[in-house]
Amino acid sequence: MSNDNHRIALITGANKGIGLATARELARAGHTVLIGARAPERGAEAAAGLTAEGLDARFVRLDVTDPATVAAAAALVTAEYGRLDTLVNNAAITRDFGTTPETLPLDDLRTTYETNVFGAVTVINAMLPLLRTSPAGLIGNVSSGLGSSSVLADPDTPAGASAALLGYNTSKAALNAVTLVFARVLRAEGIKVSALDPGHCATDLNHHSGPASVEEGGRRIARQLAEALTAPTGQYFNSAGGRYPW
Ligand SMILES: NC(=O)c1ccc[n+]([C@@H]2O[C@H](COP(=O)([O-])OP(=O)(O)OC[C@H]3O[C@@H](n4cnc5c(N)ncnc54)[C@H](OP(=O)(O)O)[C@@H]3O)[C@@H](O)[C@H]2O)c1
Repeated sequence: MSNDNHRIALITGANKGIGLATARELARAGHTVLIGARAPERGAEAAAGLTAEGLDARFVRLDVTDPATVAAAAALVTAEYGRLDTLVNNAAITRDFGTTPETLPLDDLRTTYETNVFGAVTVINAMLPLLRTSPAGLIGNVSSGLGSSSVLADPDTPAGASAALLGYNTSKAALNAVTLVFARVLRAEGIKVSALDPGHCATDLNHHSGPASVEEGGRRIARQLAEALTAPTGQYFNSAGGRYPW
């Protein structure tokens, strides 16, 4: 049986950025971390880096847009560990840069949803049988303040020009609704589902424009995951330690 300190955690898109920083924080807290990555060489290198730091990490091949790799990852976790305690749906992309809502090609909008929304749903459904074997199953969907409909509805939103990103923002708003639907249907089983936010961090995703470091983003996600375990299900954490309005 697992306890709060030794949990088995799978993080998607964990070969770099906030996903890797989150994996490091969870491993430092005593978790076994499974580094979900679509590219074997990048995933293996990231896991080896954590192992070299004395942490318990292992690469698991997983492309969230390829259900066969997701099923294979679930089979591997079943065979090797028999359960999963924490799933972090972190993998995401954006195709909005240099576009406006009018000019973003529809295929780019679809591609964004394939990863940020349908990918997360694919991974949740594949991992649910494993999460059901945990005494305290937890799903953290890495969202963004830009997915808050309340933030987007405010004409003077502090998000500024970023509030106009059609693909990214609407995909995160959809992920927020996915979070609430799964929180509702899994409530009776005791599996908690919450939306998380690392805050604006400098990563490849935003051409390193964020003011916070990737390490700080990982610490924030790890803190929110710890809080999500004891908080009611269906929270929408913000990076300042509070909650976003949906
Ligand atoms: N950076 C910010 O300021 C910020 C703010 C709020 C929320 N977030 C969220 O934080 C999360 C991490 O973002 P980041 O900033 O760390 O971005 P990042 O550095 O671009 O990392 C994204 C990760 O997702 C992976 N990925 C993309 N498509 C995938 C797929 N189909 N299957 C599996 N993995 C895939 C990437 O793998 P490859 O290396 O193979 O491309 C990479 O490991 C995202 O959900 C993002 O929306 C970020």
